[in-house]
Amino acid sequence: MTYTVREELKPAGLNGISDDQINDHWNLYKGYITQSNALKEQLETMRENGQGGTPEYMDRRRRFGFEFCGMTLHEFYFGNLKAGVNLDENGAFAKAVSESFGSLDKWKEDFAAAGKSRSIGWAICYVDPMTGDLNNHFIQLHEEGNIAGFNPVLVMDVWEHAYMVDHKAGGRPDYINAFLSNVNWDVVEKRLADAKAQGSAKRF
Ligand SMILES: [Fe+2]
Repeated sequence: MTYTVREELKPAGLNGISDDQINDHWNLYKGYITQSNALKEQLETMRENGQGGTPEYMDRRRRFGFEFCGMTLHEFYFGNLKAGVNLDENGAFAKAVSESFGSLDKWKEDFAAAGKSRSIGWAICYVDPMTGDLNNHFIQLHEEGNIAGFNPVLVMDVWEHAYMVDHKAGGRPDYINAFLSNVNWDVVEKRLADAKAQGSAKRF
């Protein structure tokens, strides 16, 4: 199989994140798909040719992790952006983060702070599907630091390419505010419910 562009995930008409910005970013996302497919094929060919133990194969496998996670994280990111969806303050997500952080506002403050980490990367709110506990993490490179067995429920790209069309290099705080005003909370709630419903959550 090959991976294809998930056009249905492309957001438009956001508040404070322009369509030009999204279009520019979308082209980068397409590049991750192209590279993931190309590397997958190269790895298959190398295995068939008995090159599976070579340094070249190992380098390409590591590269595949970067491209593949770049693809999937962008799908989570674009898929959780939509203008005009209100958060249900009595819903499961608000309840879960209030239990973990003390209140919804404290969770939001912590998530924004993760996004302001002095690095390129991602702020991700994960749910531990075994316990239902939610936590915020900062992931620097796409493939390094994702939490094994946890499910992303809200993903925010804070690589500079995510906001440089609309803001300058110092504009990350404004971008984070814009991001948080465009979250598709319906998607977040669904991801949370789906994660908790999975049989794999038991980790046995
Ligand atoms: Fe990105």
